[in-house]
Amino acid sequence: MENYKDHLLNYFSTVIENETGIIYDNSNKYLLLSRVQSLIKQLNFNSIDSLWNDIQANGLNRQLKDLLLDMATNNETSFFRDPKLFDFLKNIYVPKIMANSNKIKIWCAATSTGQEPYSIAMTMNELKDQGIYKSYEIYGTDISDRVLKQAKSGVYSLLEVQRGLPNNYLAKYFDEIHIDGSSTPSYKIKPEMSAFMTFKQLNLLQSWPMTEPFDIIFCRNVLIYQSLENKKSVISRFSRLLNPNGYLILGGAESILQLSEDYEIESYENTTVHRLKNKQ
Ligand SMILES: C[S@@+](CC[C@H](N)C(=O)[O-])C[C@H]1O[C@@H](n2cnc3c(N)ncnc32)[C@H](O)[C@@H]1O
Repeated sequence: MENYKDHLLNYFSTVIENETGIIYDNSNKYLLLSRVQSLIKQLNFNSIDSLWNDIQANGLNRQLKDLLLDMATNNETSFFRDPKLFDFLKNIYVPKIMANSNKIKIWCAATSTGQEPYSIAMTMNELKDQGIYKSYEIYGTDISDRVLKQAKSGVYSLLEVQRGLPNNYLAKYFDEIHIDGSSTPSYKIKPEMSAFMTFKQLNLLQSWPMTEPFDIIFCRNVLIYQSLENKKSVISRFSRLLNPNGYLILGGAESILQLSEDYEIESYENTTVHRLKNKQ
């Protein structure tokens, strides 16, 4: 019997790249295969061949496409990931660069399950009491509805809060809850922290609804999976949506070199941040 594994993997990697820009090539096809195998179990197919036959006969329906795109994305995140960056916000960006602002507008462009925007919100809140700025708002977006659902709920497991969240912040900003009477605690962000936050589904490769500029854009650990062409295009669209002297924050392993000349590269305690150059 013919083995359809390669046909299916090639077909899925094309759909994934067209929809999300994420590239699965020979270097990570084994990862795609293991994800497809769990998809097969979830959908009660017997084998890759039977899934491929079904797609041949009926096409890729919406439910399957959504599941495929969801499993293709890597949602790895944690509270205060790359902690020095939050020190930059706390010690330099807010008190020195944005001092006396009426409103600091922040876009977190790949929020995953929300640990990143809530880490920003907690940092901002610590400074608010010092009267350095008046208010802030965070716009959190991601391509995946599943991760946004958790981000909106603001509920995290014990394991999740143990990854990067300092104990004093857990006590100050979260309520302990017991879902369905479970003896294991979960933790829900306090409502006053969600008040400054809006979460929306947004594919970075498609059109963006916002028209008002931001002061700082976080786009960490997502462009790394994109083609050079997509990286350049997204970064140049960020430049147009930043206020003069706005900042772009990329992931620790992501470099702007060869992608854009719109930014001055600045370094803070081994952390790199990108300041939009003044337009001539
Ligand atoms: C590895 S997580 C990074 C989360 C967070 N920024 C951090 O650094 O901890 C990458 C996120 O990017 C999202 N993503 C992938 N492709 C995307 C796209 N084309 N548009 C918007 N979000 C995308 C994924 O759903 C995932 O939640």
